[in-house]
Amino acid sequence: MARDRTAVSGASGFVARNLRALLASRGIPVTCISRGRVRLRRGEEAAASPSYSEADLLPALRRCGALVHLAGSGRAAPPRYSDSNAGLAARVARMCRRAGVRRIVYLSGLGASPRAATAYFASKYEAERAVALSGVQYTVFRPSFIMGRGDPLSRRLRGQMRRRAGRLAVPGSGEYEMQPIHVGDACEAIAAAAAGLRPGLANATVDLVGPDVVTYNELLSGVRHAGIDRIGLEEAYRAAVRDPAAEFGPDDLNILVGGFTGDFGRLRRLTGMGRFRGYGEALEAGGLS
Ligand SMILES: NC(=O)c1ccc[n+]([C@@H]2O[C@H](COP(=O)([O-])OP(=O)(O)OC[C@H]3O[C@@H](n4cnc5c(N)ncnc54)[C@H](OP(=O)(O)O)[C@@H]3O)[C@@H](O)[C@H]2O)c1
Repeated sequence: MARDRTAVSGASGFVARNLRALLASRGIPVTCISRGRVRLRRGEEAAASPSYSEADLLPALRRCGALVHLAGSGRAAPPRYSDSNAGLAARVARMCRRAGVRRIVYLSGLGASPRAATAYFASKYEAERAVALSGVQYTVFRPSFIMGRGDPLSRRLRGQMRRRAGRLAVPGSGEYEMQPIHVGDACEAIAAAAAGLRPGLANATVDLVGPDVVTYNELLSGVRHAGIDRIGLEEAYRAAVRDPAAEFGPDDLNILVGGFTGDFGRLRRLTGMGRFRGYGEALEAGGLS
């Protein structure tokens, strides 16, 4: 059976939309796995499944050589992380094995570790383990902030500027390190792993980070026409816990103040990619500079 298709789960999401555009530009046929309806491009087909059931997805996966698993949640809202990240990844990895999919590419998080002290990163680590132990060849990427049109961080910053008359809220000192990556570069790396052409990416866990380590303050200084409101870290956490509509959720804050950075040199070496865009271009891609 021909296995020329690449399945992309969470197909309506930010990274998925960008990845699907890249794969389409290369003539790679894509199977879009989503809980709902997805507007399809030429070369794409839909596999809709609200519950990611085997009955819905196994027939579609049998036609795919690779799955890029992008479905997941970064927000502490129902369903629980243990279901939407760890449980879902385990189910999808099992289905890939049964369907004979050759490779799984999974997007975890840069703070995932067996010692993770937050529910979000613990669920991402659990998901990584399920993928790695599935018996299917895998690449796990651990992304920093991925930036581009419609990315979650830029959306949050734009929301703050709307509510605060052009000003951004900075919790605590703002001296938290991060390593934003341009969505175009992130998708290039993901596509390389899905294609299976870089042996170093096989059965590897790789940080998905840009070339520049910057602080949150430095990043925000590049946002066009933005003023800064400093807010206490304690105040920000209190609001996050009390109010689901607060500017920062508990895990937005955990990820931010965690100051996670990664190994850019290894990403470059393993993907063989030449030029990566810096944080200024990532910010620009998010429409903020
Ligand atoms: N963007 C970043 O900066 C960043 C950083 C670190 C890690 N990541 C990880 O990378 C992956 C993709 O990120 P993204 O920014 O593209 O996220 P996104 O825009 O939120 O897309 C994720 C997609 O997953 C699906 N989904 C959401 N909740 C789900 C649930 N409970 N059960 C099943 N499917 C669900 C939805 O797709 P459908 O509606 O089509 O089903 C959603 O559009 C995620 O796993 C995220 O945690 C992203």
